[in-house]
Amino acid sequence: MSRIAYVNGQYLPHDHAEIHIDDRGYQFGDGIYEVVSIMNGHLADQEWHLDRMEYSLSELNIPMPMTRAAMKIVIGNLIRMNKITNGLIYFQITRGVMRRDHAFNAMLKPQLVMTAKTLPRLSKQMIDPVKVITVPDQRWQRRDIKTLQLLPNCMAKTKAMEKGAYEALMVDHDGLITEGSSSNAWIVTHEGELITRPATYDILSGITRKAILDIAAKRNLKIVERGFSVEEAQNAAEVFVSSATSLVTPVYMVDDVKIGNGDTGPVALALRQAYFDHVRALAAE
Ligand code: PDD
Repeated sequence: MSRIAYVNGQYLPHDHAEIHIDDRGYQFGDGIYEVVSIMNGHLADQEWHLDRMEYSLSELNIPMPMTRAAMKIVIGNLIRMNKITNGLIYFQITRGVMRRDHAFNAMLKPQLVMTAKTLPRLSKQMIDPVKVITVPDQRWQRRDIKTLQLLPNCMAKTKAMEKGAYEALMVDHDGLITEGSSSNAWIVTHEGELITRPATYDILSGITRKAILDIAAKRNLKIVERGFSVEEAQNAAEVFVSSATSLVTPVYMVDDVKIGNGDTGPVALALRQAYFDHVRALAAE
């Protein structure tokens, strides 16, 4: 079965879905995107992803391409047409098409592209811990906006792959970890505190991060939103990363330093399992 994509009002075979070469997303990375996980047929936190989409658009003065209700219909159609049970929905909205000029015309019509992909079912129980490296954070100062401009992230992730690592954690000028190239970063201290960087302009406010914070609060875990250094991560009881695609993924090594005995930590495992229950509960609402 060939994949179906959505491009500005049309459902097209994925390989024939095209956009204009003067699209500002292509020219300047002038646009935003979202990735929503589909787990056992359920969309994970769709409403929060749509909230963040609206926030990213408004921070860049890009109008909504259609109503939120219409977007949900397109998302549902793509899931059905592509017969997705486990996978993800990707969508991006660019400012529009115009002859190349840095300054944009505020009247442009935003362009919406949506794709869907099947992925292997993520396991609630079985997660092999991963290795991460650290790299300098070379991004701009508005990382809270989920823009298409991902070159520093792509460079960082490729370096991680070259070193046999799963993710690159990015480090700011003060030596503190901001986040992963496509994930948020967490540690658990030996006192059992769950630490993650506060959601300021410095990081993307991850939807999985938000869900984990809710879950952790309900379990009465002590949560501290603050920055932490590479050394603190290397000496922590647990390190893990979170994202729509990796959910909660434990880390066993940070830059060649093993975390604890290298096994998946109990907090990461419990949070991962609780995240699955959280998505199932949303679907039942
Ligand atoms: N990335 N930080 C960055 C820089 C990210 O790109 C992502 C997500 C996250 C986690 O956000 P969320 O929990 O909402 O997925 C944090 C997506 C998955 C991607 O770019 O493919």
